Amino acid sequence: MNPSFYITTPIYYVNAEPHLGHAFSTIVCDVAARFHRLLGYDVRFQTGTDEHGDKIAEAAQKAGIQPQEYADRVSGLFRGLWPRLNIANDHFIRTTDPEHIATVRLILQKVHDAGDIYLGQYGGHYCVGCERFLTEKELVDGKCPDHQKPPVWIEEENYFFRMGSYQQALIDHIQRNPDFIRPERYKNEVLAFLREPLEDLCISRPKSRLTWGIELPFDDRFVTYVWFDALINYLTGLGYPEGPLFGQYWPAAQHLIAKDILKPHGIYWPTMLMALAKAEGRPSDAYLYRHLNVHGYWNVGAGKMSKTLGNVVKPLDLAGVYGVDPFRYFLLREMTFGLDAAFSEDLLVERYNADLANDLGNLFSRVLNMLSQYRGGVVPEPLAPAEDAGALRRLAMKTVEDYAKHMRAFQFHQALMAVWQLIGEANRFVVHSEPWTLAKDPAQSARLDVVLSTLVQTLGDVTVLISPVLPETAGRMAEHLGMELPELIGLERLELTGLIPAGTRIAKPPALFPRIDTDKVKAKAEKAEAKAGQKAAPASAPAAKEKKKSKAPIEPAAELDYEEFARVDLKLGQVLAAVRVEGADRLLKLTVDLGEDSGPRTIVAGIAQHYAPEELVGRQVVVVANLKPVVLKGVESRGMVLAAVGEDKVRVVAPDLTLPPGSKVR
Ligand code: MSP
Repeated sequence: MNPSFYITTPIYYVNAEPHLGHAFSTIVCDVAARFHRLLGYDVRFQTGTDEHGDKIAEAAQKAGIQPQEYADRVSGLFRGLWPRLNIANDHFIRTTDPEHIATVRLILQKVHDAGDIYLGQYGGHYCVGCERFLTEKELVDGKCPDHQKPPVWIEEENYFFRMGSYQQALIDHIQRNPDFIRPERYKNEVLAFLREPLEDLCISRPKSRLTWGIELPFDDRFVTYVWFDALINYLTGLGYPEGPLFGQYWPAAQHLIAKDILKPHGIYWPTMLMALAKAEGRPSDAYLYRHLNVHGYWNVGAGKMSKTLGNVVKPLDLAGVYGVDPFRYFLLREMTFGLDAAFSEDLLVERYNADLANDLGNLFSRVLNMLSQYRGGVVPEPLAPAEDAGALRRLAMKTVEDYAKHMRAFQFHQALMAVWQLIGEANRFVVHSEPWTLAKDPAQSARLDVVLSTLVQTLGDVTVLISPVLPETAGRMAEHLGMELPELIGLERLELTGLIPAGTRIAKPPALFPRIDTDKVKAKAEKAEAKAGQKAAPASAPAAKEKKKSKAPIEPAAELDYEEFARVDLKLGQVLAAVRVEGADRLLKLTVDLGEDSGPRTIVAGIAQHYAPEELVGRQVVVVANLKPVVLKGVESRGMVLAAVGEDKVRVVAPDLTLPPGSKVR
């Protein structure tokens, strides 16, 4: 029987749309899942959404809809995003799934019956943002340090889980299994926390305060605290307690999280699992997961990503421009697993050009072009032994070993560094063996065979090794090299002799990673913006200027979910006035009635070369009403007027009948 590997992402709150951080954790799990498949494991990979609790109830209320409808909507965004990043999860769980609700209630009942849940009195500093009571120590200047808000003091009757009684057992387990929590810094953090007495955990919320949760099975006046509910998703997804999946994959579980949720995963969850095992009469460590893998945070610009700072990175914006594989590669290569890392588009382009276009892309194209030119595309038999070629093959085998070691330890950047070292050596081998010189001398024919064959075999190995991180590229390379799919090959079959039999015919190579000309990208972006009438953005518009510097031109997406389209607020407007903007020959300042109580809006449009201002007054136009305001030539523009752009004519879009201003356009 194959060994089993169960990997989980945190289940994401549905009060925010997916961003770079969520994408990173989910891509990491996908890479780990694909890698373990290469090792021959039976793999199960689960992700999902966390949908109960104050935060979600509040967000739904703000949006003016029911929590369930709200959760359905945002959960759908997460679920829909993953396949587009080439993430192949086996299961997507939602905490509002009926199976999950039943599992949480079953576990609560078991732990309650075993005496580990009791009714008590609680008073404390509650932070709505964190969805938990904060200790005195955690407050900074009387405020929650994460949410910068003073917590509310709440006193109430509640149920408690006897977490404190498992403190010593948890310390012992961590000490006996030093990589239970990894990397080490996070194990140390948990142990440091456990040096203080561990308090019991309040696991209920009175319905008077919150109804959006799972009702306690033994007291219907309460719902379950969101963390006690959410953590159990890892068991529900396997059909605990009966399902065959549970027998197979638990406790061979590995969780992946970022450092922000270390405490619930490093302390609440293992103590809950110990209590559950005890309630079922099993040894206390029977259900403890195998590893908790903890990564750092992606920071953007000066610090954390945040809506308020407006620096939230949307995964599809980047994957759409640079490709999904390069995006995945960049994230895995750039972050030292466990530490924080800085994200920037410039760094992404730099890595793309250096590692993908130059190193990998170049090796693939030069080797296969030479094969085509000197051997008609047929892989030769390597008959003459050669020390340098042998050394490259041995390095390839050593790379497989190092790579596997690092990948198992979730040190992805090191695994990739090892592979890129091999790629670098292969490129150097091309340079020093000079196949172009060998090809001119018939006496060197056997030597040329060895050189070309060795390089082709290296490409074969690299194809398999990169496949977890760059699945699409590996698939293309494998197809081109006449190999099976990398996931069917597996690591075990990477041997000195190589994967590609002599006699295989290989066509001329496609360009895997066309180099990104950074100047061209910038120039194209500027041109696109100029077209949109934004070229004249003055120095006093820092937001617009910043954008111009870092954004590549935006291409329309190949496909858009209806939800994505529906986020654009298109409305019909009536132009009340139009004047030229001083010092900008393309811009008109329009006063547009959108039927809003707040009065007409000012909108700057880049159509001055196509319309005299007076031609527009009285006309109806279609406006993007929820575009962020920008300042253009000192005028704040609140929206954008849509126009059809012909070869040399630009015409505003309007309905064929006059309709009331503010009418929805869809
Ligand atoms: N719902 C809880 C988790 C429950 S798990 C039983 C939650 N959700 S969350 O939506 O806030 O997601 C937190 C996770 O998102 C982090 O642990 C991490 O995996 C990912 N990230 C969010 N922002 C991130 C960065 N800036 N950088 C890296 N990963 C981050 O907490």
